[in-house]
Amino acid sequence: MLIIDNQTNGQLINNLVFGGAGFLGSHLIDKLLKKGENVLCIDNFLTGKIQNIKHLKDNKKFFFIKHDVINPIKSKIPIEKIWHLACPASPIYYQKDPLLTIRINYEGTFNILNLAKDFKSKLLFVSSSEVYGTSRVKPQDENILVNLSTTSPRACYAEGKRIAETLVDTFSKVNNIEIRLARIFNTYGPRFNINDGRVISNFINQSLRNKRITIYGDGKQTRSFCYVDDMVQGLINLMESSYSGPVNLGNEEETTIFDLALLIRNKINPSIKIEYLDLPVDDPRYRNPCIQLARNKLKWIPKIALTEGLDRTISFFKL
Ligand SMILES: NC(=O)c1ccc[n+]([C@@H]2O[C@H](COP(=O)([O-])OP(=O)(O)OC[C@H]3O[C@@H](n4cnc5c(N)ncnc54)[C@H](O)[C@@H]3O)[C@@H](O)[C@H]2O)c1
Repeated sequence: MLIIDNQTNGQLINNLVFGGAGFLGSHLIDKLLKKGENVLCIDNFLTGKIQNIKHLKDNKKFFFIKHDVINPIKSKIPIEKIWHLACPASPIYYQKDPLLTIRINYEGTFNILNLAKDFKSKLLFVSSSEVYGTSRVKPQDENILVNLSTTSPRACYAEGKRIAETLVDTFSKVNNIEIRLARIFNTYGPRFNINDGRVISNFINQSLRNKRITIYGDGKQTRSFCYVDDMVQGLINLMESSYSGPVNLGNEEETTIFDLALLIRNKINPSIKIEYLDLPVDDPRYRNPCIQLARNKLKWIPKIALTEGLDRTISFFKL
């Protein structure tokens, strides 16, 4: 059991970010600190990295505790807002130990909810477009019928996120706490883990190393990619809104995997060849968010086009 006591020097905690040493969480923390609020980050570095937060080590408003969320947490210090992003996000990591992925989503989320209950903290849970499974409906709105296997290799994550959403919603009604549910679609940008096997990191990694670009399937499957700064703004708008969700956050700009490969290759090295491999089990055909709800309720739309976001991401990886 972790007890949060004097780690924040007695300051009330404005923001507690679980999973804050990860890609998305570290960008969220940067933005919250820029707003002048303090942040306590809790992470066990399962997939996160110390490099993502090391620039904050002298910041008087930033605090860090290493802890695994599948173990309970108590606090003696009031907490205003809790951001729950703790979960491995890419298939190669969440499939490495699928039982752990399920436990993080169920037990970890339950522990975080119990912490939120003690001070009636507002809790935002970061869910995923994976809850829509292999649905072929396009664009995907929050009410579409889901086509999801309970036994595929992706189920530990997709079903994990689904039960976590239900748990957060049910717990909030029973215990009267304020919640926000964000269903986020593919997000990319600087600090992305270059080796995590996701498509943008794969293509950039392969192009920078002059290796063949590997496309799974025929490359006609589509994805929609949101730049990290836009996503962080969406999460903040949701937390500050009066709407509890679930709400889709993502970029509507849709691209085929083949076009994405060409775009990245041409930015780095146009002479690289493309190779086709078998499609993984249950790979979704389309991922394209309907963000009408986010537009209406959060006054949010993504601003950064794919080509600009890729330039910024590639520059980061070239450093
Ligand atoms: N990046 C995306 O495209 C995307 C899409 C949909 C949903 N999400 C969700 O957003 C959140 C953040 O994703 P990300 O891309 O930043 O991934 P990430 O792997 O970079 O970040 C996850 C963070 O959670 C931490 N973590 C994992 N298990 C933990 C545990 N048991 N205890 C404490 N900390 C733990 C990791 O160490 C890491 O720092 C995740 O919940 C993910 O499911 C991300």
